[in-house]
Amino acid sequence: MSEQPQSSDRWSSEIDTLVTRCVAELAASPTEIALREAYARYGGQKGAVKRAVQAAITAAPKERKREVGQVGNAALQQIDGAFESRKRVLADEARGRDLARTVDVTLPGRAPRAGHLHPLTHTRREIERIFAQLGFSLATGPQVETDFHNFEALAMPKDHPARDMQDTFYVAGAKDVLLRTHTSPVQIRTMLAQRPPVRVICPGPVYRRDDDPTHSPMFHQVEGLVVDEQVTFGDLKGTLLHFVRAFFGPATGIRLRPSFFPFTEPSAEVDLSCVFCALQPKTRSPDAGCRTCKGTGWLEVGGAGMVDPEVFRHVDYDSERYTGFAFGFGIDRMAMLKYRISDIRLLYEGDQRLLEQFQ
Ligand code: PHE
Repeated sequence: MSEQPQSSDRWSSEIDTLVTRCVAELAASPTEIALREAYARYGGQKGAVKRAVQAAITAAPKERKREVGQVGNAALQQIDGAFESRKRVLADEARGRDLARTVDVTLPGRAPRAGHLHPLTHTRREIERIFAQLGFSLATGPQVETDFHNFEALAMPKDHPARDMQDTFYVAGAKDVLLRTHTSPVQIRTMLAQRPPVRVICPGPVYRRDDDPTHSPMFHQVEGLVVDEQVTFGDLKGTLLHFVRAFFGPATGIRLRPSFFPFTEPSAEVDLSCVFCALQPKTRSPDAGCRTCKGTGWLEVGGAGMVDPEVFRHVDYDSERYTGFAFGFGIDRMAMLKYRISDIRLLYEGDQRLLEQFQ
């Protein structure tokens, strides 16, 4: 045997071995990335097969270079073919998985439902807005109050019978500390903190031992307080009338009935012309009325009056120089009237069927 064929055998069997290994690795590549890496190791510019072919061509005598080149090309074509066919198999498998999937990730997502304000918040904000336009500022106080701010300074000493109507929740283990029964203690806190003129509203939760369709143990009030020189009952009436008209509509009327509060003198219950039978004071006929207003055409919404000098004494205001008015309304009650909600407890149950109407 001549040397030529032997050496020819050696390079071609070396290429054969590489091709066999390459084809096996390509066929076993689990992903397209692994496939491309395997291909690059053999068939790429610096790949093992490529280099072996080039080396064989270089080593071959001139007259055999062409033959060696052809064998080399066939080897490279073989691994190209193995690469392409494995690529098709992997693509088919990926498509199969895509089709087998029951979740369509290309569907547009479901946006989370955005929340919205509670009807009581709408109501409170609307009240604040109306009074802000009249130049009132906002004042707040703690819901856990002292007996002094909630009762004593409001001319309700310990033995005063008016306390009975506002019996509440006392904090165990603390002397004279309770959940405030009204927003009136914020009057005291405001006056202790500043000198006249005062023009504030104080909205917030209050607590009483009540629980029925129109009373909740926790509800909301908004207090109003104006103190300055020459503030009159006429100012109180004008302020209240402006407010109810801005809040319930321009045809709304008010009625002030003589009443009693220890911290105002004179005092009044504030009635609103019924928003259900929509009977306006001027046009009401004697047989008018509905169930809500019990046929009277009027709805009670709060209390009001001129600040009692006894209150001024507690906060060290000169009652010879200053006069003032105060009022207290139920925010829940106003929300119920405005949005025609029949049971106060609906405001606290979080039932979506009610709440979603206030988006
Ligand atoms: N604080 C009183 C109540 O809750 C209401 C009120 C406020 C009355 C201000 C007069 C003046 O019953």
